[in-house]
Amino acid sequence: MRIDILTLFPEMFEGVLGSSILGKAKEKGIVDFHVTNFREFSESKHGTVDDTPYGGGGGMVLKPEPLFRAVEAVTAEVKPRVILMCPQGKPHSQKLAEELAREEHLVFVCGHYEGYDERIRQYLVTDEISIGDYVLTGGELAAMVVIDSVVRLQPGALGNESSAVEDSFTTGLLEHPHYTRPAEFRGWKVPDILLSGHHANIVRWRLKESLRRTKERRPDLLAAMEMTEEMQKLLRELEQEEKNSGLSKE
Ligand code: ADE
Repeated sequence: MRIDILTLFPEMFEGVLGSSILGKAKEKGIVDFHVTNFREFSESKHGTVDDTPYGGGGGMVLKPEPLFRAVEAVTAEVKPRVILMCPQGKPHSQKLAEELAREEHLVFVCGHYEGYDERIRQYLVTDEISIGDYVLTGGELAAMVVIDSVVRLQPGALGNESSAVEDSFTTGLLEHPHYTRPAEFRGWKVPDILLSGHHANIVRWRLKESLRRTKERRPDLLAAMEMTEEMQKLLRELEQEEKNSGLSKE
């Protein structure tokens, strides 16, 4: 997979793309990152990339020429997905990360100004993505979030292949709690069942705790899921436990 990033602040990406899973994915040849300062594609000798808005008003607007030329310079025969990072975009999700992970070439456009000339949105980009309902100073941090979520899904990027499959959101449920040694820490014990060595019981416990966590924290996810019979049974157990604890509090 090839990932191009068009930004006025290329130095922001150095640490993130060079470290941890992303750095290793690059070393292993799983992904190729190209960070380009699109100021290089400005048509003016001063490297101007923005201008005042037609119709007046405050703020600056990113001009179309530098971004069109920068995207054209990184486009090969097959047209890439060109992704504009902005708060008005489609909300990012695990599902969208999975979809983007199947592409061969992604181009991320990161702006730092009030706005983009509308022709960039209409005729250059194929996708607009937001990472949440808040405003960042620019698209760079948002692009890093999306890139991280996409690269870790590439085969071989994570050391342990099963870790992407069992992730929160991939299964539709939040992950169950995890424990490691010591079995008792400051008087807080690891649940007995995890020390029992009884595999089937442990699998059942994990599913039940995933359901508990999702029910408590993200009931919207649970409502959208198809439930197996076992899940329905475990949910009934959880409801019964809730009722019992309500009774014991009264
Ligand atoms: N640029 C500024 N805020 C953003 C957000 N929430 N998501 C994506 N890009 C952005």
